[in-house]
Amino acid sequence: MTLDLTKYIASIQDYPEPGVTFRDISPLMGDGDAYRQATNEIIEYAKSKQVEMIVGPEARGFIVGCPVAYELGVGFAPARKKGKLPRETVKATYELEYGDESALYLHKDAIKPGQRVLVTDDLLATGGTIKATIELVEKLGGIVVGTAFFIELKDLHGREKIKDYDMLCLMEY
Ligand code: PRP
Ligand code: ADE
Repeated sequence: MTLDLTKYIASIQDYPEPGVTFRDISPLMGDGDAYRQATNEIIEYAKSKQVEMIVGPEARGFIVGCPVAYELGVGFAPARKKGKLPRETVKATYELEYGDESALYLHKDAIKPGQRVLVTDDLLATGGTIKATIELVEKLGGIVVGTAFFIELKDLHGREKIKDYDMLCLMEY
């Protein structure tokens, strides 16, 4: 049986600030069948791209990417916020839907040059986070062969920031 995954997304008005509708994936993750269905769709996509490595931004990008990496038997590299990675890093800055500017970091040895990388996150909003993550991978010589999200927020036009990259989104709002 195929589930309607949108039934597992909670929408919270005016969170974390007025005017923002927060799309919460916790109910999806909290249901084994829904989480597995969503993950399996991304696994099939990753297989079609012959992915060799997965990179996801802190924190919700881990939730999407790690089970895919486990199933495929490939590595996962976390793109983390300031002060979290202990060794030499590369850095990329970006702007957020709410809040102002932020930065992401990746360990310099996280990606081997020429590696085929899938970038994962729970949600595409303005596209700043995914663009910064792609930038990190490319700084290290990785090839971003695809991007995968549970949710795309169409009104924020994040897709335009990554139009040169292939993309899988399971749900749209
Ligand atoms: C959220 C979400 C995406 C990003 C999308 O992460 O998980 O990573 O925002 O927004 P964008 O497309 O406008 O960049 P957040 O920065 O809130 O961090 P979290 O995952 O640690 O909660
Ligand atoms: N990250 C950025 N915008 C978001 C939203 N509207 N809901 C959930 N996570 C987000």
